[in-house]
Amino acid sequence: MAMSDDYTQANSAAQFLLSKAKLRPKIAMVLGSGLGGLADELSEAFRIPYAQIPSFPHPTAIGHAGQMVIGKVGSVAVAAMQGRVHFYEGYSSREVAFPIRVFARMGIRAVVLTNAAGGINLDYQQGALVVISDHINLQGQNPLIGQNDDRFGTRYPDLTQAYWKPYREFALEEARKLGLTVYQGVYAAMTGPSFETPAEIRYLRTIGADLVGMSTISEVIAARHMGLRVLAISCVTNMAAGILDQILTHKEVLETGERVKGAFMALVKAVLPRIACDLESTMT
Ligand code: HPA
Repeated sequence: MAMSDDYTQANSAAQFLLSKAKLRPKIAMVLGSGLGGLADELSEAFRIPYAQIPSFPHPTAIGHAGQMVIGKVGSVAVAAMQGRVHFYEGYSSREVAFPIRVFARMGIRAVVLTNAAGGINLDYQQGALVVISDHINLQGQNPLIGQNDDRFGTRYPDLTQAYWKPYREFALEEARKLGLTVYQGVYAAMTGPSFETPAEIRYLRTIGADLVGMSTISEVIAARHMGLRVLAISCVTNMAAGILDQILTHKEVLETGERVKGAFMALVKAVLPRIACDLESTMT
């Protein structure tokens, strides 16, 4: 994928999807490890594997189905990615962020990103839901490296409001109404695919991280570059390395995702109409 081609390719993929789907969503969701179940519940759904979407990267990880679902959650139209690609799969940060650029070219104005993460903050427990308030990019990569395409956004995008504050408040309010305990925290992004060492986790806690994961930040940076509003929610599928006297496995990540799915989906379903309403009132 040549750098200067990203805009054209994102446009082509967006036009392709719009030519197939009837709905015109303004909100997109990216559903991470073990959290893709929400996309199965969409009504009036149009489904298409990533492999059939022009230029779209497709995942190799277990627990990531790799299909786009455009449908409705209640009365809200959404475009949902059931599974994502990761830097550790060998895709560049820019390639990881490509789907977000396609969304923007489809007319999407807000993205809800979900992921599985390791809990670093000792107040968290396995299964906790955490609204991401900020991030620390330790991947040594940025999706915007290379010549800037001004059609997407400015060379030096601001990230002070990377995680849109009103949306974080919507999530915390809706969680309260649902009787769910939801935290807010800072997400540290590592490349993976190995889990962290206990020493790395102590280091991450020292520098201000509450969570650790291997995704999301490239998508957030690309989204902000284009002015999309972002809400990101992590499911703490395991306490991070060295906190509990046990080893970490991907099986545990998937099992916890499965267990928390209900609460997680309830929260996302409650937040979507609030975001839709915000977009109607502020981004016309
Ligand atoms: N570390 C990094 N990424 C993760 C973890 C973890 O402990 N759990 C789920 N994703």
